[in-house]
Amino acid sequence: MARVAGGVGCSHVPAVGAAIDKGRTEEPYWAPYFAKLDRARRWIAEVDPDVCIVVYNDHASAFSLEVIPTFALGLADEFPPADEGYGPRPVPVVQGHPELAWHLAESLILDEFDITLVNEMPVDHGLTVPLSVMFGQPEAWPSAVIPLCVNVVQYPPPTGHRCYRLGQALRRALDAYEGDERVVVFGTGGMSHQLQSERAGFINVDFDTAFLDHLVDDPEAVATIPHLDYLRDAGSEGIELVMWLVMRGALGPRVREVYRATHLPTSNTHNGLLILEEES
Ligand SMILES: [Fe+2]
Repeated sequence: MARVAGGVGCSHVPAVGAAIDKGRTEEPYWAPYFAKLDRARRWIAEVDPDVCIVVYNDHASAFSLEVIPTFALGLADEFPPADEGYGPRPVPVVQGHPELAWHLAESLILDEFDITLVNEMPVDHGLTVPLSVMFGQPEAWPSAVIPLCVNVVQYPPPTGHRCYRLGQALRRALDAYEGDERVVVFGTGGMSHQLQSERAGFINVDFDTAFLDHLVDDPEAVATIPHLDYLRDAGSEGIELVMWLVMRGALGPRVREVYRATHLPTSNTHNGLLILEEES
């Protein structure tokens, strides 16, 4: 049985990756944000996961608008950083865990989650920025990674409820695995932000704070938030927060908040970082 050592909720702001890659983390704009990461990096170094399951969305890097899977699981040996228009990020190639990934695919599909199987896939900032946030700039990522993509780019995305249930199914799959890997589940994206139209730059700290509070203590209620509420209260890209519900679903009903950091702004986003462990 794989052991779920914790969950990480983490924004995946591209500018954070650029600040790391270009050595700007000590600049006045960025230093206060990066100072908040030390505690999170110590936590994951102590946990030392064998595998990180990173729930993220592809931003038209691996999937164009021709094919848009709602849920897609990466089964490959490795996943190269995607070229997002300025060349690939100078980060290590992500090493997969095909044995566990295939087990998850079988378990999830037989559990009636119709996952798209992906054997070849570049991974963009949605996945690599949270790795950089948590691990810094290592020569090689210290953990294998299984990418789990969720469509939140093209309407209609899955509901928060479906994402929460997917997380619970993921947990059943991990519990049934023969290996004893330590696993950390990442839910990425968010928090409130809007990149386009009249409300570009929209941020709602009250919504984000309530979301984080209730994600910890009442996830079933958070799972009922409808798309329209995300759009109105968290901006058009705030819907990315449904991916945090996959992470929360993979943890047990009662969790302990190990660490929370928020920062305003990074780029045009209210940035969130949340670490949870199961209550023992
Ligand atoms: Fe995103």
